[in-house]
Order: sequence, then structure tokens, then C-alpha cells
Amino acid sequence: MITRKSKREISQMQEAGKLLVATHKEIAKMIKPGITTMEIDEFVEEFLKKHGATPEQKGFQGYPYATCASINDEICHGFPRKEPLINGDIVTIDMVVNLNGGLADSAWSYAVGEVDEKGKRLMEVTKKALYLGIEQAQVGNRIGDIGHVIQTYAEGEGFSVVREFTGHGIGPTIHEPPHIPHFGQPNKGVRLKEGMVITIEPMINEGTWKSKMDKNNWTARTVDKGRSVQYEHTLAITKNGPLILTEQDE
Ligand code: CO
Repeated sequence: MITRKSKREISQMQEAGKLLVATHKEIAKMIKPGITTMEIDEFVEEFLKKHGATPEQKGFQGYPYATCASINDEICHGFPRKEPLINGDIVTIDMVVNLNGGLADSAWSYAVGEVDEKGKRLMEVTKKALYLGIEQAQVGNRIGDIGHVIQTYAEGEGFSVVREFTGHGIGPTIHEPPHIPHFGQPNKGVRLKEGMVITIEPMINEGTWKSKMDKNNWTARTVDKGRSVQYEHTLAITKNGPLILTEQDE
């Protein structure tokens, strides 16, 4: 069932979002060649605990870590590991914060040291695709409007859009209906209503969109080993337009 949240519920989720943003800002300072995604994961768990929150991903359907850390050709759900990041890597850290029952979900891609031009372009395009999608998250629009602008823009830039993983409704659990695909047709799908809280989280690939699953049954990676980048926000649909609950005020 698609739920619609009260103002109070949305502001609870926004508090979780603020803490999530603070966590990402700390991660941004930590990311450099030599650090491991396991160290980042341990930091996140501690940092959230210190602020009275928990990493909602840990234990979700048996997922073992506080964060997903997806490097280069990994699309999503990469496991944190003890191998150091190296110059030129692109790493996406995804996490869901639970603060007093309010949930917020945001993934962010980070350049490790100096990333090549194509990688930088992939990051810029993916971030812009996210914001173009968010602009469509208006009362009365349909879910297809979001995916359509993301797909049109990303493919126009020569990149591809992951199909198997989508945005989603969020609260009271991590994954609620509806699915929010990052591709599609305008004016199709569920109509957006005031009080819906969703994630938009395009995963954009430099090569094919096709993916395969690792043996751990979690981590998806591109079949052609091309890189994949992702930015994700949690947002509420309000009568004044989309309210981003995980905005970083860059
Ligand atoms: Co996420």
C-alpha cells in the first residue's frame, strides 16, 4: 500500500535526513586513496550510534553492514571491504538512517583522488539526472515523468540507465511501494500525491545498463565492467513541490 505521511512524520524523516547528510559530509572528508570502505562502514555505525540513530540497512533481509559501498563497476549493494581505495576509483556509499523511527535514504558517489575525465562526466551527468528527476516529483505528475526525464537526459549524454534497481517509497520500512524506475514514458504510472515520500536514485553506467549478480547474492555489477555512478535523495511530495529530506546544500 502506498502511504501518505503527515507533516509530523515528514519532519521526523527530515531529522533522520539531516543526520544522514552530516554523515555524508564526514565521509567526504575521509575519502582518499588508502582508506578502506570497511573503515568508512565502521565510522558510519559509530557516528550514527553517537547521535542516537541506527543504520537501517544492517540486518535488512540479512544484509550484514551499515553501508553499501560500491566501487567502479559495482552498481549497488557492494560490501564494505578491507582493500584500500586507490587513486581514480569512484565509490558510492549508500545508507539508510533510522532516527526515532524516521527513515532517510541517500547514496552519494565520491571520486577517490583524481578521476579521469569520462568518470567525472559520468558523475556530473548522474547528479544532474537526479535533480532533473526530482523536479518532476510534483503533485499530479506521474511516476513515468520522473523516469522519462532521467532516461532522456542520461542517454542523450551517451550513458545508460540501470533497469533492475529503482527508487521506491520509504517509511515505515526501507522499501515501500511504489517502485520509481529511472526510465519510462511520460504520463504513465502512479500519480504523485501530497504526503508521499520516495527515493530517486539513478544508477547511470558508462557502458551497457546490463548487470550481473555477484556470488554474495547482493552486489550487482555491470556485465561489461564499465563504471556505474549513483546519487540518491529521499524527498517528500508537497503542494509546494518536492521537499528534499537529504539535501546537502552544496
Ligand atoms: Co539508498
